[in-house]
Amino acid sequence: MENNSLTRPLGGLGQVAASTAASPQWSGRMAFVLAATGSAVGLGNIWKFPYITGEHGGAAFVLVYLACILVIGIPLLMAEVMIGRRGRHNPPHAMAALAGEAGASPRWRWLGWVGVLTGFLLLSFYVVVAGWAVAYIFDTGAGTFNTATGEQVGAHFGALLASPLTLIFWGSLVLALTLGIVALGVRQGLERAVNLMMPGLFLLLLVLVGYAMTTGHFMQGLAFLFNPDFGKLSGNSVLVALGHAFFTLSLAGGGMMTYGAYLPGKVSIAKTALTIGLLDTLVALLAGMVIFPLVFANGLEPGAGPGLLFVTLPIAFGQMPLGALFGALFFVMLSVAALTSAISLIEPAVAWLTGRYRISRARACLGSGVLMWLLSLGTVFSFNLWEQHTLFGKTFFGGLDYLTSSWIMPLSGLFIALFAGWVMSRTATEQELGRGPGYRLWRFTIRYLSPVFIVLMFLNAIGVFG
Ligand code: TRP
Repeated sequence: MENNSLTRPLGGLGQVAASTAASPQWSGRMAFVLAATGSAVGLGNIWKFPYITGEHGGAAFVLVYLACILVIGIPLLMAEVMIGRRGRHNPPHAMAALAGEAGASPRWRWLGWVGVLTGFLLLSFYVVVAGWAVAYIFDTGAGTFNTATGEQVGAHFGALLASPLTLIFWGSLVLALTLGIVALGVRQGLERAVNLMMPGLFLLLLVLVGYAMTTGHFMQGLAFLFNPDFGKLSGNSVLVALGHAFFTLSLAGGGMMTYGAYLPGKVSIAKTALTIGLLDTLVALLAGMVIFPLVFANGLEPGAGPGLLFVTLPIAFGQMPLGALFGALFFVMLSVAALTSAISLIEPAVAWLTGRYRISRARACLGSGVLMWLLSLGTVFSFNLWEQHTLFGKTFFGGLDYLTSSWIMPLSGLFIALFAGWVMSRTATEQELGRGPGYRLWRFTIRYLSPVFIVLMFLNAIGVFG
């Protein structure tokens, strides 16, 4: 299909609307909120947030992260959903259409591209880590950790990481499940998958918070999370916090734009974005309240890195009544939370492939799946065969994570903010977001506050402020 609309100049929205008459839609507001919350709530909240908080010294980092969510994350979430819904297409196509509408350069579509590509890169390590969670369903369920000491649990995790074949097995399983759901389509696949699992995840987190309260170190955990010591905060920590705000809200990875494209016109973008942001933050903080008390109660190191979750929680499950059952359930929920996020990391690429080459979802999934599988080997080997091969002190996984979260996502977020605030007309954004004081606050934030804050954080990270 040479004559794709991306290859000729776009005259406005008419043509885009016409070419997407058959584009899928969520069944309603609730379906979108669930799917977008499913995308946001994932490994980022339960696995990554606690371990990076541990590495960066605790509460001061948490405060910066919360500020980033409020001043940058939620306004940008609104912007992305808005761009998707108004463009009614995959990210490159939606960006090109809206740039056309605003009389701006069609090169803005590259920004959509970066999003699709970022999602792709992220998923390559995401499936591997989600694979750990799936493996732990069986380990915990089998009672492997019953009465185990911290050391034994640590050794068990070490053995998992040391085996490339085991990691490939579980990672491939997650990838296959993700592609299977995406191949089924937006309503049959995505929407059905997110419906039941999100409430279950919440419930289990609450049970675990209850358990963490009994460890005798709950207050110490809370202090670590909420009692800031700004001396511990480096410029790089600030950038990591910013990057994590992007990561945890699924921003700048194409996902929210693509999900926005399936959003019915009547739904309020501001309200849904606030709901998604609140739920996502709540889950992250609850996960921290579970994990840090356990870290302190068992004399573990908060800065232990990516393995933190996998060496703290099993200790708790090994000691609590019915721990094997709760543990298995917890890792089921974690796997499902990861799965509902993984879907949103590949959906942009699939939407683009099906739109651009007019191939079926199944073929698009197969094609991107093979590439993804190969790329994921880089992360698998980062924990064993290539552990010693580092660049600037980072493994393949470490480098990929750092590059995407700390640089690519905040940078493309900056451009998305500029696009929504300065390129799109006031009329266009007002039509999507509605008028009123809330709109004016959003517009001021996205035009001035978000871009300035992102730039300041970059300058801070490269040492401009000393
Ligand atoms: N938000 C998810 C998490 O916290 C990860 C994720 C899903 C994501 N889709 C994304 C991150 C798009 C960036 C961009 O686990």
